[in-house]
Amino acid sequence: MAKINENYLNLKGSYLFSEIAQRVAHFKNNNPDANIIRLGIGDVTQPLCPAIIEAMHTAVDEMSSQESFAGYGPEQGYRFLIEKIIKYQFEPYGIHLDESEIFVSDGSKCDSANIQEIFDKDLVVSLMSPVYPVYSDTNIMAGRSGKPNNNNQYQNFVYLESTAENGFNPPTPSGKVDLIYLCFPNNPTGTTLTKKQLKVWVDYAKENKSIILFDAAYEAFIQEPDVPHSIYEIEGAENVAIEFRSFSKTAGFTGLRCAYTVVPKSLMGYKSNGEPYSLNALWNRRQCTKFNGASYISQKAAEAVFSDEGRMQIENNISYYMDNAKIIREGLISQGIECYGGINAPYVWIKTPKNMSSWDFFSLMLEQVHVVGTPGVGFGFSGEGYYRLTAFSDRSQTEKVVQRFANLAL
Ligand SMILES: Cc1ncc(COP(=O)(O)O)c(C=O)c1O
Repeated sequence: MAKINENYLNLKGSYLFSEIAQRVAHFKNNNPDANIIRLGIGDVTQPLCPAIIEAMHTAVDEMSSQESFAGYGPEQGYRFLIEKIIKYQFEPYGIHLDESEIFVSDGSKCDSANIQEIFDKDLVVSLMSPVYPVYSDTNIMAGRSGKPNNNNQYQNFVYLESTAENGFNPPTPSGKVDLIYLCFPNNPTGTTLTKKQLKVWVDYAKENKSIILFDAAYEAFIQEPDVPHSIYEIEGAENVAIEFRSFSKTAGFTGLRCAYTVVPKSLMGYKSNGEPYSLNALWNRRQCTKFNGASYISQKAAEAVFSDEGRMQIENNISYYMDNAKIIREGLISQGIECYGGINAPYVWIKTPKNMSSWDFFSLMLEQVHVVGTPGVGFGFSGEGYYRLTAFSDRSQTEKVVQRFANLAL
């Protein structure tokens, strides 16, 4: 009898964005003429920049001749890309990595989802609330969560509540936890930590032999000098942290797919007899068995992100999105709405007016002004009373959303 993995039954019924899509479709059905603007899902809208397109054309041409055709590549990624990643993403911050510490992949979603496989099933997992749902759902699937209560809190998770009251920088857990998921710049709150604040987490992990799983998918959006681009800017982090990076938001690769994960060689997990064991070796083994490499064409495209033209063009794209973030943030603040994030990240996290619930505010926005954002509670219980807008839309839509807010009858 093919028994199922019953841990899956502990997952919440519906995925947030399908619930939103259903509600919007229902509204649209009853109001076919409504001009709906969507600032909900965090997907980019600007096309790939010319340097990337050119690199892809060249790579496609290479595939057409026997001499330059590329079949299976290294599971860990091509050297031509890894060298550039180290040179442009880490060396400028004084971080020295070996090529064998970088694992190129087809996305940070799958990497941040799969990483938990190399750890024991009974580890204590700590995550923020609100949170990028992939961290929690994959640990629920793996049987680390226990059952949820009525508030959608799982009994075995240690939650780090991230709210305006603690400046979106929750205190470290009072007891010991084994795995800690941190995401900065944060999705969904758009907030960041300073180097000093991140050091507190690294110190906690050192003290407790915990591993930090640091998701830096939005690193490219950082504007302020004291915000760390990589956790390895913090002394000793190479002994306690794995870092995830993605080309998705940085360079518009959401449909093209390329990302990477850094697993330092000095990073150790422990066998049940207490002996240390290399996490780099385990992740390498996992990838070699279950992954056959990101496509040659997307790795060539990713390499072009680091060419002179590529870097300039990408900077322009990022400025475009960050100007959108500024328009939303400053526009709403001037209307008396409480907003967070949007300075070093492409998300603005809005406190719902009059303490409305996230879903009530979602409905109000949809019905009155035909704007779709994301209800904060969809990212976890501490997101209740918040609402997320993304800066990834185009300029005119972004400006219209700010104008439409002014028409809300609260
Ligand atoms: C925090 C965070 N990590 C990872 C990802 C996924 O990135 P990728 O497109 O590389 O799978 C997202 C996408 O929205 C994200 O918000």
